[in-house]
Amino acid sequence: MDAPVDLRSDTVSRPSAAMRHAMATAEVGDDWYGDDPTVNRLQDLAAELTGKPAAAFLPTGTMCNQIALSILGRTGHSVICEATAHIGDNEAASSAALSGIAFHYLPAADAGALTADQIATALEPDPYHVEVVDLVALENTHQASGGSVLPVAEVRAISKICAEHNLPLYLDGARIFNACVVTGASIADYAAETTAMMFCLSKGLGAPIGSMLVGDTEFITEVRRRKILFGGAWRQAGFLAAAGILALQEGPDRLAEDHANARRLAEGVAEILPGSIDPARVPTNILFIDVAGHGHGLREWVRRLAAQGLLVTTIGSRLRMVTHVNIGRQQITDALAAWRTVAAELGTGSKG
Ligand SMILES: Cc1ncc(COP(=O)(O)O)c(C=O)c1O
Repeated sequence: MDAPVDLRSDTVSRPSAAMRHAMATAEVGDDWYGDDPTVNRLQDLAAELTGKPAAAFLPTGTMCNQIALSILGRTGHSVICEATAHIGDNEAASSAALSGIAFHYLPAADAGALTADQIATALEPDPYHVEVVDLVALENTHQASGGSVLPVAEVRAISKICAEHNLPLYLDGARIFNACVVTGASIADYAAETTAMMFCLSKGLGAPIGSMLVGDTEFITEVRRRKILFGGAWRQAGFLAAAGILALQEGPDRLAEDHANARRLAEGVAEILPGSIDPARVPTNILFIDVAGHGHGLREWVRRLAAQGLLVTTIGSRLRMVTHVNIGRQQITDALAAWRTVAAELGTGSKG
């Protein structure tokens, strides 16, 4: 059997031949001492691209988020974020466990997009002085709502509210380059509205490991200290930074292909299983399929699709697929063939 079409996440992609070569030949040092030249080159590149004074290379997006929260928030205080934000909902309660931070969740009316008005209302003075909000955290693109995009203008309006309340604004930009493809804005346009932000090299950009946290010099100096505290101070990390540099230089230009493939996939699945997905609500590379109306539990769909060579995952009550660098036109065709076969096996979907 051929290798399965793996659409569980954009994190499953394999490094390219060029990345493997760059890794094998990377010049390295000890990043704990700050003297790994390839890590330093990647950090300089990230700072330059985002327009922020400094950057830190960390193992995961989760570690970026959690270190940022630990610096910008305080024990017993709250962080405002969207109700299904990764930082609050998907990181194993690490903010509570590691930093004693709570979340003030705001449900977004439309596709994960918090609005400036919502945040202004949440920040109205609390007459009982029970809650202290330390910061606002946004996510762009927003994973749980299917990779939806916040435009720069809305982030700017939110940034203005934060400034009025003297609060930092943090951006979980795990997939910010996907947002940039849709809006035409640059990563620097988004970064300019934030106190600090992170982005992942290991998702659509195709690197095997690693994420960048950017901010001002004082913030990043403290990030480097907490990187030790959180157990993330790696040594010859230049091997990974070498792949990260290629990801950053070459990854963003390719993301439009992932978006086009996601749209093709959504249109195909909508034809096979009417009502399970609205292709017009797939702006980037993430698709959620609602099979509830087609009978059979989620696990049954996952198992049968896997038997047809298609790997998908479940998030809540839906199936998720994410396009990435290893998925081309042929894989989309193969994935749709798997959906068609399983729908026929389960006796559901369009008969056309
Ligand atoms: C929006 C978002 N933020 C943060 C993360 C965490 O990244 P990592 O898996 O590198 O810890 C993810 C991972 O999927 C994500 O989707």
